[in-house]
Amino acid sequence: MTAQQDLRSSPDTADVVPRETGAPPGPGMPAQWWRSAVIYQIYPRSFHDSTGDGVGDLPGITARLGALQELGVDAIWLSPFMTSPQKDAGYDVADYCDVDPIFGTLADFDALLERAHGFGIRVIVDLVPNHSSDQHLWFQQALAAAPGSPERARYIFREGRGEQGEQPPNNWQSIFGGPAWTRITETDGTPGQWYLHLFDSSQPDFDWSQEEVKEEFRRILRFWLDRGVDGFRVDVAHGLVKDQDFPDYTPDVDAASMGGEETPAPYFEQTAVHEIYRDWRLVLEEYPGDRALCGEAWVSSVAKAALWVRPDEMHQTFNFQYLETPWEAEQLRGVIDDSLYAFNAVGAPSTWVLSNHDVVRHATRLSLTGENPQGTGIGPAHPGLPDRETGLARARAATALMLALPGSAYIYQGEELGLDEVHDLPDAARQDPTWFRTAGERFGRDGCRVPLPWAGEAENFGFSSGGTPWLPQPERWEDLSRDVQRADPDSTLSLYRRMLALRAEHDLGLGEVRWLPGAEDAVLMFSNQDLTVLANTGTKPVALPAGHQVLLATAPLAGSQVPADCTVWLQRHAG
Ligand code: NOJ
Repeated sequence: MTAQQDLRSSPDTADVVPRETGAPPGPGMPAQWWRSAVIYQIYPRSFHDSTGDGVGDLPGITARLGALQELGVDAIWLSPFMTSPQKDAGYDVADYCDVDPIFGTLADFDALLERAHGFGIRVIVDLVPNHSSDQHLWFQQALAAAPGSPERARYIFREGRGEQGEQPPNNWQSIFGGPAWTRITETDGTPGQWYLHLFDSSQPDFDWSQEEVKEEFRRILRFWLDRGVDGFRVDVAHGLVKDQDFPDYTPDVDAASMGGEETPAPYFEQTAVHEIYRDWRLVLEEYPGDRALCGEAWVSSVAKAALWVRPDEMHQTFNFQYLETPWEAEQLRGVIDDSLYAFNAVGAPSTWVLSNHDVVRHATRLSLTGENPQGTGIGPAHPGLPDRETGLARARAATALMLALPGSAYIYQGEELGLDEVHDLPDAARQDPTWFRTAGERFGRDGCRVPLPWAGEAENFGFSSGGTPWLPQPERWEDLSRDVQRADPDSTLSLYRRMLALRAEHDLGLGEVRWLPGAEDAVLMFSNQDLTVLANTGTKPVALPAGHQVLLATAPLAGSQVPADCTVWLQRHAG
């Protein structure tokens, strides 16, 4: 079968034969798979809806796993699908050991896992240990119990300041806007204590100094490990432990940020948080196979991020410095060097990531001008909105740079289609708590969470039949739909497939970056394994190095010239 024919085969799973149906990856799969894996983030509510209610679900994912095998990913990470009132799209968990009915059942999860493993795809689930939902049994018990009770001790309840306790215990602000404390009414009807929530008021923070909390999370880890998951993405991994003095604190950076300050906030990066991951590592090591932890820690440098992946802690942590680096050669080279150095020093792989469900999609972000703090989002009138063509060209080039780097790379669903940020959602459609808690001042993250287009001519672009997608899809996505792109060898989807195939074939994930001399200022040029990679971040075309054949180019080359916003992968001519 030619590559062209292969691209045109059916998108359904029916034509894809699982490699080892029912068998977990293991035999034949590389040990320490997470060192070089390409991990695809699935945001379940926006992937594929099998029930027609407008919200994606687990059976919808299972039915479409063939598309991910075809893409060539090694693993998937599922954003939360556990029981939740969905105040923060599932990052508010009411029961950590069950599936929310909008996503399906535990049996659906088991079927998904089995099918993914049959395809040789590992499965990482999202764990949210910093806070639960206010609908969690423990929080409901805490509300019903008295101040000072063991039930209250699982969360962070404090007396207020002021004569009547009418002021919050300190001045901390929620990441989503507004105060980080909410006052409760005690069971006798009197105004009572305050509880801490770094995020929405429906997301009370656990008190991780309590042994009962630690034991509960060991139980939760084992629950999913027993089911066969390959690891966990750990939400707000730099949170959990708070400075026990609870000092007042005003961040230097925009309050929307998840952290990343030189001097950490008293609720982030506390030394004792590392004890928790040392403990979890031991839990993972009780299990056979190669299970991994990946931390979501927004910190101010890769050197700090590397603290999460010391040999007895997590296996990976997200490299948000890389995500936050503009499309500019010198800065990119700097962050690549810093990352390789910092992670190497602790024996961990670097990870690379450009998009996720919390940031403006990189097909838009990399060509935005002006400020765009993480989590703030962009709206219809954002100054400096790029034209889509430039955005897409940069996204393709930036991804080709990222996927040529050694380590593990994260892909966010839809970026393989070149999807842009939906900055023009109607206000009435927005659902992110950030939007509500800031009275519309910050748009939040809905624009990167719009359901995927599977089929250009189908109802809801094939995302859902019958239902109204939970966020409206823009008409402009018709041409970006997966079926349209499968039929086009020059599409972004075809480019991703080729990049992932070449990355695996040349073992780039386990290679090494060697910078090559002679590159112009706006150009990055390095070798990894037997490939030469050239990324042109400038505004003018540059010449291809002599003696090479082009394996891949993210934009059409004009003879031997690499245009602006283009990355090429080259191989030296034999002889
Ligand atoms: C980080 C998650 O990625 C984000 O989506 C969520 O809102 C916060 N943590 C709170 O759980």
